[in-house]
Amino acid sequence: MTAVATKQLTPKAGKPVQPAVAALLLDWYDSERRDLPWRYAPGKKADAYRVWLSEIMLQQTVVKTVIPYYAAFLKRWPTVNALAAASLDDVLVAWAGLGYYSRARNLHKCAQLVVAEHRGKFPKDVETLGTLPGVGPYTAAAIAAIAYGAKVTPVDGNVERVVSRLFAIETPLPAARSAIKRQVATLTPDARTGDFAQAMMDLGATVCTPKRPSCLMCPLHRQCAGYAQGIQDGLPRKAVKAAKPARFGHAFLALREDGHILLRQRPDRGLLARMIEVPSTEWLDELPALQTAMRAAPLRGDWWQVPGAVSHVFTHFKLELVVHVALVPMDAALTFWADGARCRWVSRRALGGEALPSVMRKIIAHALKEM
Ligand code: ADE
Repeated sequence: MTAVATKQLTPKAGKPVQPAVAALLLDWYDSERRDLPWRYAPGKKADAYRVWLSEIMLQQTVVKTVIPYYAAFLKRWPTVNALAAASLDDVLVAWAGLGYYSRARNLHKCAQLVVAEHRGKFPKDVETLGTLPGVGPYTAAAIAAIAYGAKVTPVDGNVERVVSRLFAIETPLPAARSAIKRQVATLTPDARTGDFAQAMMDLGATVCTPKRPSCLMCPLHRQCAGYAQGIQDGLPRKAVKAAKPARFGHAFLALREDGHILLRQRPDRGLLARMIEVPSTEWLDELPALQTAMRAAPLRGDWWQVPGAVSHVFTHFKLELVVHVALVPMDAALTFWADGARCRWVSRRALGGEALPSVMRKIIAHALKEM
């Protein structure tokens, strides 16, 4: 059984294509595909702008989170020209809460470049697409396949899982990536490549799940070498990752008599660049002592430490912040190191219109639940 399943799927030199897999998967997709707002009915021409927008939003973010942001962006900026004409700060506000904010900066830059250098049309080939800001090899392949039918299959985490199981690839990730890419190329059909790519994604998201995959529901289970060997649950194997380092700091939420909150725009470069923040100390390897921390408070006041702390996980580190609140009078003066030019008093009702990343929303919620 094992030997047969593995043999069927091992491409012979010069005969790389596995038409059965693509046909089975496309049949399954036609009846089981997820109905997602960026998807096109079979035979309908895709709008590359919409495909690009959805693929950028879907980088590192789950479908459910993306759906309302995608709808809001399309409503406000229905074309690449409209998005290119927007201000970066408006784009950052609309992106707030979606995370990985360099995506929003690159999105805006990319829209401007497509308008200025490609007459408002997204390039069709993977290589040129890959030169656009924020468009890596995965996204370039996804746009080329879904919008233009190019014969490529983008490889994300879902596809890695499906393929490593299908071919029983036991080399741990990330070393297995090149073998996975090679095998995907043997599966990619000549036609309906965009549907094939999205079928792979859907299979990975709904059937070939990380834990307890539903193998008996899988259109490929007879083809699956991992299933035949009974090792599917443990694939893909992964090299042990180093734990994320932790950083710590104190944040200061100043609440003015009229209910306005003091917010500040972050520097133009670096983590969360140009986003809006609650002023804080630097984020360091150890929690700064209270006395030292108070020197970073944006104004003199009766600071009160909120019990508990706010935690947030970024790509490269975990953050834990102690939050302090002060009720301050209308004429409270900012300290000179608060960088007054970047500070603003914002009414609590207007917070929805600010480019506040999730970690800053958490700080505000944590502080205000005590008020
Ligand atoms: N993840 C990335 N791209 C996707 C798509 N087009 N459909 C569903 N999930 C995705």
